[in-house]
Amino acid sequence: MKICLFSAKKYDREYFDLINQTYEFELDYFAITLTPKTASLAKGADAVCAFVNDEINAQTLTILSELGIKILLMRCAGFNNVDLACAKRLGIHVARVPAYSPEAVAEHAIALLMTLNRRIHKAYLRTRDANFSLEGLTGFNMHGRTVGVIGTGKIGLATARIFRGFGCQVIGFDPYPNAEFEKLGGRYVAFDELLSLSKVISLHCPLTADSTYLIDRRAFSLMQPKTVLINTSRGKLVDSVAAIDALKQGLLGGLALDVYENEQNLFFEDLSDEVIQDDVFRRLSACHNVIFTGHQAFLTHEALTAIAQVTLDNAKALGAGDTTVNEIIQNNPDHH
Ligand code: NAI
Repeated sequence: MKICLFSAKKYDREYFDLINQTYEFELDYFAITLTPKTASLAKGADAVCAFVNDEINAQTLTILSELGIKILLMRCAGFNNVDLACAKRLGIHVARVPAYSPEAVAEHAIALLMTLNRRIHKAYLRTRDANFSLEGLTGFNMHGRTVGVIGTGKIGLATARIFRGFGCQVIGFDPYPNAEFEKLGGRYVAFDELLSLSKVISLHCPLTADSTYLIDRRAFSLMQPKTVLINTSRGKLVDSVAAIDALKQGLLGGLALDVYENEQNLFFEDLSDEVIQDDVFRRLSACHNVIFTGHQAFLTHEALTAIAQVTLDNAKALGAGDTTVNEIIQNNPDHH
């Protein structure tokens, strides 16, 4: 069985090659993203493996289908970039890696939060320049703070667990409440209540039609002054232009983004010798209390190992005509 991997980076090759020693598939790596323009590169393959910013719309899927490809392996948890209805129509099976390491993402969310809160990004630069002034570096204790977790699935729960370790009051919002969250001391509240009570808000829900711009102008207006917002989920959950206004008004005291609504034009590439054309990104990244990482929350040894393992397992099952619990069936929304 031949699998074409798109958007493949050095670390993808490293982990897939290692894990593939037990599967012995033929793996063909392409650094380029999967789009209608590049889909024909998959000619001769039995399956295609794609990632978060690949453009898997009807056009791409039609080209893949014409090449005889019946298996799409998403090596990620989210699948908002796949036209599932079209895949179903074309008889293309789509599988994903639902939980490669919730802790990898949760721990990154907390790392972003604590960087912002304790101004580590500033202290790092200052101390390298022998500037040991503490002016402007004041943070706040996490202990006793109310923090809001939006989406209490696997990653939301892992994040809530760490917050509880800090001694925070954890409140949550999820249309499908999870008893586990309450067991670890979390309390469910209505969406608006979460916005108005939380000092820190961390987003852990999938991007769907319902959750697009979940954090919009109205949501920002309900927050306490100087709320800290963390998004490690999907960029389009937050209206970035509204976020800039909220920063200006002081409603947002900090914004940490591992994902960004127009990241497909920026992330995963070295653009350090180019002028960034995205003015919204420019304005956000110019704020002293905004930090970005380029969709790296998943990037741990444990997660990369699990991603390669589960993806190749999915390939094996679907290639043999078997079913897998990791197959995404349309109308089976992204929860539990
Ligand atoms: P999950 O499916 O275990 O949990 C998602 C939860 O969100 C569910 O409990 C669901 O009921 C809830 N939910 C759905 N719509 C909601 C809404 N409108 N408001 C509040 N909650 C809502 O998913 P998991 O594994 O926890 O992942 C969450 C998201 O994290 C993924 O969908 C993906 O977009 C993102 N992610 C980001 C990564 C990164 O590297 N930055 C890596 C992995 C996942």
